[in-house]
Amino acid sequence: MDNDNKLVASPDLPIDIQVNHRLVDLGRLVSLPPTTFRLLSLLMSDNTSAKELQAVIEQDPGLAAKVISLSNSPVYAVRDPVSTIDRAIIIVGFKELEILALGIGLTENFDLKKVPGGFDGRKIWLHCLAVSWIARELALTVKPREARQASEAMIGGLLHELGTIILVSKFPVHFQQLLDLVSSGRDYREAETTLSLRHEAIGYQLSRNWGLPEVFQQIILYHHFPKASKSYERPVSIISLADNLAHRSGYGLGLEERLEIDLPYVLKCLNLTVDQLQTFVKNVIASMARIQPLWDMVLNGESKKPVPKGSGLSSLLS
Ligand SMILES: [Fe+2]
Ligand SMILES: [Fe+2]
Repeated sequence: MDNDNKLVASPDLPIDIQVNHRLVDLGRLVSLPPTTFRLLSLLMSDNTSAKELQAVIEQDPGLAAKVISLSNSPVYAVRDPVSTIDRAIIIVGFKELEILALGIGLTENFDLKKVPGGFDGRKIWLHCLAVSWIARELALTVKPREARQASEAMIGGLLHELGTIILVSKFPVHFQQLLDLVSSGRDYREAETTLSLRHEAIGYQLSRNWGLPEVFQQIILYHHFPKASKSYERPVSIISLADNLAHRSGYGLGLEERLEIDLPYVLKCLNLTVDQLQTFVKNVIASMARIQPLWDMVLNGESKKPVPKGSGLSSLLS
């Protein structure tokens, strides 16, 4: 393949240079658990039934137990305790439970609690859950009747930092090298480039190994450069904007602090005005405060106080 045709995760570097075969065990060590794969398929199907979702959850006792405890959370204020998955689906809502179940599956398989250097791995999952939620709401704002686009946005949001999640959970030595460079004053993204460990490229390689649909491969690869995605501009732009909004509303990674976005391009691509975006931001911040206790349960089995601040949003919109 000649250089001009190579896929790039930024306009400057080809994929193979960005990973440089440093993670030789990437394919062998990291697999997608079968339940998670089945949940992904259900989420992508236009006509999944509640019975099918119930069957997948019930086949995984750990997942089923967490779903039951989630539906008994004070958020839902149920009078009689929920003890079955079919009732949990009614209480939580079919679409919400689909994505929360996927979140539970992913967070349990890629455990970020024991991570190097005192780094708060929980922040990464909180960020992904927040991006997933914002992206879903954004997709519904842009195209209210397109359920498939909303599902795609939810999954894309959850998976967009796949490379970072894999690096932190499966390759702690490499991640520590990145943290060391950052503590010596380097920007995180610069450090990734220096060490040939760009998270977009790592996630993209893995998403191809797993045979994820191309739209997710493109979201993972181009979430910082939606313009570079020729065939999936709209879904990639949704995730890119949701990613920025999550960072600016207090759900950052604690890593990629210097995030840039070509807002005029993204707004044009999504057919949104600045006024519409402002209204969207106000509504989505309110909805995140409501849903965060559920994310805490997904991550810890407990509910904590909401953290959204929204203070950084004005700089995006001004
Ligand atoms: Fe990223
Ligand atoms: Fe992100």
